[in-house]
Amino acid sequence: AIPEGIRCLADYEPHAREKLAPAAWDYFMAAAGDGLSARANRAAWDALQLWPRVLRPLAGLSTEIELLGRRWPTPLLAAPMALQQLAHSDAELALGLAAAVQGAGLVLSMQSSLPMEVVARAVVSESGRGPLWYQLYLLESRQATLERVRRAEAAGFEALVLTVDASVRAPHPAVQAVPADPGPAPASLPDLLARAPTWDDVAWLQGETKLPLLLKGVLNPLDARDAARLGLAGLVVSNHGGRTLDGLPPTAVALPRIADAVGDALPLLVDGGIHRGTDVLKALALGARAVLVGRPLLHALATAGAAGAAHALRLLRDELTIALAQCGLRSPAEAGRELLGHAPAAGI
Ligand code: FNR
Repeated sequence: AIPEGIRCLADYEPHAREKLAPAAWDYFMAAAGDGLSARANRAAWDALQLWPRVLRPLAGLSTEIELLGRRWPTPLLAAPMALQQLAHSDAELALGLAAAVQGAGLVLSMQSSLPMEVVARAVVSESGRGPLWYQLYLLESRQATLERVRRAEAAGFEALVLTVDASVRAPHPAVQAVPADPGPAPASLPDLLARAPTWDDVAWLQGETKLPLLLKGVLNPLDARDAARLGLAGLVVSNHGGRTLDGLPPTAVALPRIADAVGDALPLLVDGGIHRGTDVLKALALGARAVLVGRPLLHALATAGAAGAAHALRLLRDELTIALAQCGLRSPAEAGRELLGHAPAAGI
């Protein structure tokens, strides 16, 4: 059940901490190095201020967006996060259904605890749902990668999200303890370096699938330009929640630079530290078409399963609706840089 007194996403965190085994908590909250990137993500959203317009017509206000050629109820997606069985026994099925009933999207992790077909089957037929995308890493062989791609296509996933910011990942001990679908096998550093993916692999994958291909984990505008040149379907501006390398720019700083570099060439999404409707609105104003939410949803899932995750997404959607109205905007598409008007001294 949803505990009393939950008024915003952050309120789920202490409940999750109480509920989760220490190893699971540590895995979910892990950050690289000293945690600078992870903290900077939050601080950068906080540093932005909204400059609302008043007395604008608001009739017909809606959170709907257009993305990859379709209209969706909200600009919210659940970020791909591995091994959700560590959070709740209903795992990805719970988060997927919660997202679907709240009109949010699901990006299913390649390291899902449940088979992708099980999750897709439950989500795809929900009316009023958001996008259903599959996140993948390039595996040790192209054939192994392709096998996943074909399964994702057959299961009804509508896009592929290739994560490119974790080429030399070492599996976390909590991950090694869970046998189901653990993704790439542990390998030595020289092995990892030898097979670290390159742009050639991205072009190859693009040629192998009809599904739109997005890259997740792009921070440098130069990479964003290369992605646009390749004709990719979109980018997720992300520093992996500060989990892969410390000292990275916060995504609220990287996003506008990337938007300046690529213009309208491809849709941008963003994640990292987003837990308030006002954070979502700031992201939209900086050029994002939609946002991914990670750890706050895991906390809600751990606390109260599907009901918790659905409640969290409902809170975020309501906060966004109010933020749009209070800023004089009738839709996410109306949010632009002028909403952040006078940029604060932080240089954002
Ligand atoms: C992740 N993330 C992630 N990303 C990815 O592309 N594939 C994956 O399997 C995972 N797994 C994963 C597990 C856990 C426990 C966390 C917390 C994160 C990164 C995730 O998609 C997202 O980029 C970050 O979590 C940033 O958002 P938050 O958590 O700051 O909202």
